[in-house]
Amino acid sequence: MNESRPAPSDFGRFAGAKILITGGLGFIGSNLARRLVDLGAVVTLVDSLVPEYGGSRFNVQGLEERVRVNISDVRDPYSLRSHVAGQDFLFNLAGQTSHLDSMEDPFTDLEINCRAQLSILETCRQFNPAVRIVFASTRQIYGRPERLPVDERHPLRPVDVNGINKLAGEFYHRLYHDVYELPACVLRLTNTYGPRMRIKDARQTFVGAWIRLLLEGKPFDVWGGQQLRDFTYVDDCVDALLLAAVRPEASGQVFNLGGSEVTSLIDLARLLVELNGSGQFLQREFPADRKRIDIGDYYADDALVRKTLGWRPNVSLRDGLKRTLDFFRANLDQYR
Ligand SMILES: NC(=O)c1ccc[n+]([C@@H]2O[C@H](COP(=O)([O-])OP(=O)(O)OC[C@H]3O[C@@H](n4cnc5c(N)ncnc54)[C@H](O)[C@@H]3O)[C@@H](O)[C@H]2O)c1
Repeated sequence: MNESRPAPSDFGRFAGAKILITGGLGFIGSNLARRLVDLGAVVTLVDSLVPEYGGSRFNVQGLEERVRVNISDVRDPYSLRSHVAGQDFLFNLAGQTSHLDSMEDPFTDLEINCRAQLSILETCRQFNPAVRIVFASTRQIYGRPERLPVDERHPLRPVDVNGINKLAGEFYHRLYHDVYELPACVLRLTNTYGPRMRIKDARQTFVGAWIRLLLEGKPFDVWGGQQLRDFTYVDDCVDALLLAAVRPEASGQVFNLGGSEVTSLIDLARLLVELNGSGQFLQREFPADRKRIDIGDYYADDALVRKTLGWRPNVSLRDGLKRTLDFFRANLDQYR
């Protein structure tokens, strides 16, 4: 698959537009910020920089003069007011992303992924009801798939606290669209990977931890291995976020995002070792605490976003992993 990424003409609307990204120092938020700055947008990032999460100032290295960074917490409704007022677009990406953490500390997940989302929407309703909102939801809300591929009509049955709170966050966005006509769109992301992902541990995704161990010359563990998954390269995810923000037909909609191909975890591990030129992994049984909240096989049917917004992934898994390895090889010390 060759990358060709001509910016759609309506991306010109981002030039001079005022943009707020919550979770903007995180993996997806910082990659989005980079693209928006290139498109001429005036970008503000809000992030709490809680050390256990994926945010880092290094993620916006080189952009320091071109984005405004506010270290604040979306759980604080008072600081939200000044951030939200006057913005044209809000990319709402702040979140607690660890499934296991959500089971060990369910109330923090509730505060960030549920209560704070309602608070953000209330702030928009009161102080900026015209702001166009894109919310990063997750495939986790489906739980263990009953059928594959999973389309948007699949039953919602999360297997962990994180999935339940993200589902509530998503439904608040839909409710505020339906009742108050806030122009909000929801993207249900699958495993997203690429430069600036969290590799320190497996809190964001196991793939991050695999990549770090591989680059450190250490073996990594593959639990199970036959599970099927799809992966979205972060630049493709950013394309979808921008399309969801700018296209009027996205308003009030919920879209799955998938990836360029479906792969088993064992094949993913083999591909990573091949692309790295060396490395080892060990296949192991699932630890009991992980097994309880594992979703098994998952891959998305993302025909709706392709048809409605013209989105498609441009980066193959092989190219995306290669770029990711190259990035972290050059910047490993910043991410461990
Ligand atoms: N990466 C994926 O594979 C994936 C998959 C599905 C959904 N998502 C969703 O996409 C969004 C972005 O995820 P990411 O992968 O970039 O994760 P990330 O951890 O890198 O980014 C999230 C950012 O939110 C910030 N944050 C957390 N709580 C906050 C708070 N209370 N106030 C302000 N900032 C806060 C963190 O500091 C971090 O920088 C999340 O909402 C996540 O649930 C991601």
